[in-house]
Amino acid sequence: MANKIGWIGLGRMGEAMVKLLTTAGNGVDIWNRTRSKAEPLVQYGATLVDHKQDLAACEVVFTMVSTTDDLKEVLFAEGGLVTGKVLPRVVVDSSSISQEGSAEVRQRLEALGVAYLCAPVSGNAKVAKAGKLLIVSSGPKNLYDLAEPYLKAMSRKCMWVGEGELARVWKIAHNTMFGVVIQNLCEITVLAEKAGIPRHVFLESINDSVLGSMYTRYKSDVLTNLSFENVTFTPKLLLKDMDLGMSAAKAQGVAMPAAAATRESIARMVGRGHDHVDFSILLTEIAADAGLNLVPENVKVPDGLSA
Ligand SMILES: NC(=O)c1ccc[n+]([C@@H]2O[C@H](COP(=O)([O-])OP(=O)(O)OC[C@H]3O[C@@H](n4cnc5c(N)ncnc54)[C@H](OP(=O)(O)O)[C@@H]3O)[C@@H](O)[C@H]2O)c1
Repeated sequence: MANKIGWIGLGRMGEAMVKLLTTAGNGVDIWNRTRSKAEPLVQYGATLVDHKQDLAACEVVFTMVSTTDDLKEVLFAEGGLVTGKVLPRVVVDSSSISQEGSAEVRQRLEALGVAYLCAPVSGNAKVAKAGKLLIVSSGPKNLYDLAEPYLKAMSRKCMWVGEGELARVWKIAHNTMFGVVIQNLCEITVLAEKAGIPRHVFLESINDSVLGSMYTRYKSDVLTNLSFENVTFTPKLLLKDMDLGMSAAKAQGVAMPAAAATRESIARMVGRGHDHVDFSILLTEIAADAGLNLVPENVKVPDGLSA
């Protein structure tokens, strides 16, 4: 008999989230395109299935893949989750996808009688492993209520923001702020260092001030030690999200001067060829503009994520 929960997509995020579900005592049937990545989860109590359609007997199937097209592929392409005779009752998607793509997925699923909840997340894989994600959902409220115990098991906090694709709008707004905060954090860190305060000392003070956040804390180590090879999010992905934010601002008639300036700064970083590195390499660009040559400080800065 199938478990109540099915899961498609065991990348950096999906793996951490499934571990939290099984640790909380849930049985989870799992499928991943690259099977070898899913195998280690069996020792955490998950059940590995051979085909996506094997998950169709689960009451709720979560998806955590890369893009809108990938989501459509796992659901609707040949052998897809909802292409067989048996259908799941609910699909909950936590991938970061566009509002338009999500609306199309909703329309296709609902036409088949499958309910759909959007549940994008705030936090990277390290945050997920620590059980500190924020999960924000939209779609029918009764579906959110049904999924909430599972969402709670995977997060520090989960919320419902309304109907339809509103959680996708939330994610765009969230990632726009993500860009603006790193831009500002880098600027003030360069200002402080050029005036004589070591980076790790300045960042420690910000982290312990009213302005400190989980974000400033977990970026402090990479900013101190310039270890940009530890990628959590790439400059190109951040530029894509800033563009989504600016398009949404245009569509809604909202002026966003700070986001507009940040978008240009990030576009310049991408144009200079930074790729396959962490987006916080922005610090070195801002330092160069200030005529400051940065060196790693070789100081371990706590990230605030240890359990
Ligand atoms: N990483 C972060 O910091 C972060 C934070 C918040 C939100 N997100 C969002 O969460 C989602 C997942 O991110 P991630 O970091 O876990 O990505 P990832 O490590 O690259 O994993 C992507 C997962 O999607 C699967 N996948 C992709 N295309 C597929 C396809 N066409 N068919 C079947 N499976 C497919 C991959 O399967 P394979 O294993 O076979 O490649 C893998 O399981 C993305 O939308 C991302 O933007 C990420």
